[in-house]
Amino acid sequence: MLKPAINHFEAKSYAVFDRKDWASAYCNVETECTKIILKLVSGEVPKSLNGTFYRNGPGRLERNGSWVHHPFDGDGMIASMHFKNGDVELTNRFVRTKAWLEEEKAGRFLYRGVFGTKKSGFAISNAFDVRLKNIANTHVVKLGNELLALWEAAQPHSLNPETLETNGLSNLNGVLAPNEAFSAHPRFDPGHHQEPRMISFGVKAGPTSTIRLMEFSIQGDNSGQLISDRKDKFKGFAFLHDFAITANWAIFMQNAIDFNPLPFILGQKGAAQCLKSKPNGQAKFILIPRDPGLFSKQSPRIFDAPNGFVFHHLNAFEEGNEVIIDSIFYNEFPSIEPNEDFRKIDFNKLPEGILKRCRINLLTNEIEQGIFSNQCCEFAMVNPKYQGYSAKYSWMASAEKGNGNGPLQAIKKLNLKTKKAIHWSIAPRGFVSEPLMIPNNSSSIEDDGWILDLIWNGATQKNELIILKANDLTHQATLEVPIKIPHGLHGSWVNNN
Ligand code: CO
Repeated sequence: MLKPAINHFEAKSYAVFDRKDWASAYCNVETECTKIILKLVSGEVPKSLNGTFYRNGPGRLERNGSWVHHPFDGDGMIASMHFKNGDVELTNRFVRTKAWLEEEKAGRFLYRGVFGTKKSGFAISNAFDVRLKNIANTHVVKLGNELLALWEAAQPHSLNPETLETNGLSNLNGVLAPNEAFSAHPRFDPGHHQEPRMISFGVKAGPTSTIRLMEFSIQGDNSGQLISDRKDKFKGFAFLHDFAITANWAIFMQNAIDFNPLPFILGQKGAAQCLKSKPNGQAKFILIPRDPGLFSKQSPRIFDAPNGFVFHHLNAFEEGNEVIIDSIFYNEFPSIEPNEDFRKIDFNKLPEGILKRCRINLLTNEIEQGIFSNQCCEFAMVNPKYQGYSAKYSWMASAEKGNGNGPLQAIKKLNLKTKKAIHWSIAPRGFVSEPLMIPNNSSSIEDDGWILDLIWNGATQKNELIILKANDLTHQATLEVPIKIPHGLHGSWVNNN
């Protein structure tokens, strides 16, 4: 086990990582486990932590000697870590997508990837093949009796929540049309309108883009039922990965971005490599009224947004005439060019993610932007009970150094009121992924709970599941994971009933 560094405030000096340690996580997941009890390396798993940590991410990165061009093109592999009375049981399965099954049989890549992966064979075979491979690799959430493996450009795949067996594509009980896009970033409303809900969206992008906003019940027998649905059209190409909610609004940021599809159609680039930040473009905030809500049925409100590119938002809330949204801004869209190897990227050449706050004044249309910290970060969240409310605390993955880009090597707890931070770091040889904050259900204290994180230990070339206390980031337990899982994407927590 890595020796965790002591908590410290904004790092002044730091241990330099070795890129080989970071890149060593990129491998194929070779084994599918069923209910394997994880070996405790140190500490103790809190007995009151009962539920399942589901996590999605790319699990197949190479076939027959060909590598994906970008890890985001890797096939989705779901890991579930089931916590019960101090034990943790691991099950993992690839999502049996149509393309995964075909490629397993063929033993080579048959499809192009959105982020630039080319199919095996002659370069020309990529031209004019614009089929999208639904790789189900971005997020995993439970809705009703279905576990949904999400990928934003197509329908979700439905899995058995216990065995992780794939049932097939889901249309969410008839809500989605065939091939309809469904975002990989649903938000869980803790009860702004009495009952809790899951809110999500789908984007149909083009010269004019359409956002469909959908709200689902997540309670009892009604869980999974659609209770609100609206569609709004907007000018311009919309690349929307995430959004945020308040009681009255669903808030999107439309990045100033250009899409030139020609190199994609000609087979030279993946679709996402044809996205470029537009230097003189104007980003927009799009506020869509929720139903019910004070502005329900009204038209969306649109505001000029500050420059930059945003994948992920932390949270949003309302205060008087203002809507406040915290987001991770990059100076421009980070892309891996066709001649680059993602395992050899130079972190210094890529823009870093910076957490910023925008205050949108609904009366004056003015936007005020502030910055929390110059430290590079990603995958930020608040206590889920504070979704859409003004939260005091947030947890995120951060780089080790205080500014500039770098791999994610620390868990950071940031006080959003004072901007003070504490860290739990595993630099120089360890790498973190998205941390998940699980509130202690028997407490009303905002930062009472735990942090779960699946880390990559470059020294042992193994993953470990770590548990920290959410309030002071003290280490609670480290468990050994018997399979290798590449740096992943998003996950969620489901309490035991
Ligand atoms: Co995301």
